[in-house]
Amino acid sequence: MKADDLLAQIRVNGQVPRHVAIIMDGNGRWARERNLPRPLGHRSGMKSVRAVVEGSLAAAVEVLSLFAFSQENWQRPPAEIKALMSLLQEYIAREAKELNEQGVRVRVLGDLSRLTPSAASAAEQLVALTADNSRLTLNLFISYGSRAELVRAARLIARDVRDGRLDLEAVDEEALRSRLYTSDCPDPDLLIRTSGEQRISNFLLWQCAYAELYMSPVLWPDFSRRHLYEAIMAYQNRDRRFGRVTA
Ligand code: IPE
Ligand code: IPE
Ligand code: MG
Repeated sequence: MKADDLLAQIRVNGQVPRHVAIIMDGNGRWARERNLPRPLGHRSGMKSVRAVVEGSLAAAVEVLSLFAFSQENWQRPPAEIKALMSLLQEYIAREAKELNEQGVRVRVLGDLSRLTPSAASAAEQLVALTADNSRLTLNLFISYGSRAELVRAARLIARDVRDGRLDLEAVDEEALRSRLYTSDCPDPDLLIRTSGEQRISNFLLWQCAYAELYMSPVLWPDFSRRHLYEAIMAYQNRDRRFGRVTA
């Protein structure tokens, strides 16, 4: 089916996931299949980012979370890291205006202290530019690891307890949840991973407790609006029980 037909079907079906998270994987393999250097795979993946942003806007998804660069990815060769950081800046330079016009609120989440000053400042500017938008929240996870995020939250809790702002007895799930980067977002309803890998790779471990998982064999640079809609359709056919029994 074509993307627009799928979208029409999704609308008929009803419940669209409020929050879609995507592990954008397979750029390197896409490049290797074409005998291209890996950075060209990453570059080609930028148009898939555009496609899923537009697809999410059209489907009225509220939050789109994209895993762009993991904490573990810092262990890649310096040349690849450099290429990824300059692509980030290129993406921001190229897309900022349109994202803003489309009503997208962008946030960049992760340990940004490790970014180059120019990449960090480009990210900050995009976040500031789009801060008042509300049609779609786009979370870009960069230099992000879920375990590190949880350690950070634990440390924030410990500090508040130590300084008398929080009772030990008040430390509950909400206390931790509210100290995550995603504190103002609903949990992901749908987690998509491309490139056929069947793992989470340290992405949103807490938040995805009850996400529906959708593993796509498509390599990220080939992932289109149609593929997003196929994932949403699959989601609409799932039975989410949250541990309960269906009536
Ligand atoms: C995903 O593609 C992008 C990042 C992790 C930065 P990969 O670079 O992991 O591509 P593969 O998995 O090697 O094909
Ligand atoms: C996960 O992909 C991280 C991102 C998509 C940014 P990786 O390619 O780094 O994950 P592994 O190494 O296959 O688990
Ligand atoms: Mg990979």
